[in-house]
Amino acid sequence: MDSQGPLPSTPASRFDIGLIVNGTSHRLAVDARTTLLDALRDRLHLTGTKRGCDLGQCGACTVLLEGRRINACLTLAVMVHGRAITTIEGIATDGELHPMQTAFVQHDAFQCGYCTPGQIMSAIGLLNESRTTDEATIREHMSGNICRCGAYTNIVAAVRDAAARGS
Ligand code: FES
Ligand code: FES
Repeated sequence: MDSQGPLPSTPASRFDIGLIVNGTSHRLAVDARTTLLDALRDRLHLTGTKRGCDLGQCGACTVLLEGRRINACLTLAVMVHGRAITTIEGIATDGELHPMQTAFVQHDAFQCGYCTPGQIMSAIGLLNESRTTDEATIREHMSGNICRCGAYTNIVAAVRDAAARGS
């Protein structure tokens, strides 16, 4: 006779979720462990959001969650079910660069460009939080975005310029 009884039910490991990315709704079946970064890059093929450290330390994966910047590598896709995400692919309108993108181009605020999508998304998030043009404050608030090429001087100049123009 089986004395062990029924097996305990196991928690669901796959979830059907909805993500609103750059204004478009997507339905996805994801593993509970799927990060937002994996969902964006591997499932939705939005590869503008970069994978750097995958540990929340470099900022390459920065996206906006309803206007607030987050690290997509530290965010589970199931956590943002039904929420609005903005990635670097979603900030230009009608073929016109976002003013922050224009500022980065005008100030030559990149070298290899790998960190640039995260820098730009973080800078937009920063200006949503504060319109400061103070260099020290911008450096502090952008400190989660690492640039291995060391383009910080021009990045800060671009953010200050965009802030001053009210971008
Ligand atoms: S890849 Fe997310 S913080 Fe580095
Ligand atoms: S431009 Fe190369 S890592 Fe920032």
